[in-house]
Parts: sequence; structure tokens; C-alpha cells
Amino acid sequence: MIDENELVIRALEARKHAYVPYSHWAVGAALLTKEGKIYEGCNIENAAHTPTNCAERTAFFKAVSEGERDFAAIAVVGAYEAEEPEKICAPCGVCRQVMMEFCDPDTFRVVLGTKDGVQVSQTLKEMLPYGFGPDVLNIKN
Ligand code: THU
Repeated sequence: MIDENELVIRALEARKHAYVPYSHWAVGAALLTKEGKIYEGCNIENAAHTPTNCAERTAFFKAVSEGERDFAAIAVVGAYEAEEPEKICAPCGVCRQVMMEFCDPDTFRVVLGTKDGVQVSQTLKEMLPYGFGPDVLNIKN
């Protein structure tokens, strides 16, 4: 059983490392593997802007680069860096697409939190209806 509130706490921790000198919008993510390991990620901005990496993708790329392929859930929190997250911060389309590459849309959970814990918990399919993923190309992950 996933403790989604615990995952939000880890996302809040990850957010402390956000490198956001341009937008000042700090995001944290905590990605849970099916075996129970958590990979944290933050957004990492860049003076050239386009190389910026979102918190969710940082967490995914850390995990996949260490051999992980089976994921259960991700928690995301975001707010201006000087503030505590009081409203949800939903993943951008690019991050949803990266989730689609590695996760089962029917079971993978996307948890949107604030400083007060879980606010929204949905499957990836609910977050990204009619998603285009490896299954369409008959590629098994
Ligand atoms: N950002 C994320 O890290 N994740 C999201 O879900 C939304 C946007 C980042 C990208 C950029 O560094 C900042 O938030 C403002 O767009």
C-alpha cells in the first residue's frame, strides 16, 4: 500500500534543492518504485531556458539511469520558492509523456500535494487520456 502523504513529504524535501534563478518557481517530485524505493527530483533551470528540466523528469531520469523500470506513483509539489506550496502544481505535458513511456497508465498514480498533504490522486490515464505510449508501437517496457 502506498503512503501518498509520505510521498508528498519527500516531494517537499526534494523541492528544497530546486535550482530556479529564472522563474523562481520551485518544484519537487518523489517517484516511488514498485519495490518501495523513492527517487527525489527538483527542477533545474538554465540561462538558455530550453535546457531546463522539470522536477518530475529529474526524478524519472535519476531512477531509469540507475536501472529502475517499474514505478508505482509520483508526488509533485510546487510554488514560488519563497512560499510554501498551498495550491497544487500539476505536471506539464512533457512530463506526463515521460511518465507514459515508463508507467502503466491504468495503475500508476500521480499525486498532487501541498504543504498540507495529498490534494489530488489520479491514475496517469486520468491525467493523460488517450496517451501515446510504447504499447501503441508494440514495444514492451
Ligand atoms: N516545472 C516543473 O518542474 N514541473 C512542473 O510540473 C511544472 C513546471 C518547472 C519548470 C520551470 O523550472 C518552472 O517550473 C516554471 O515553469
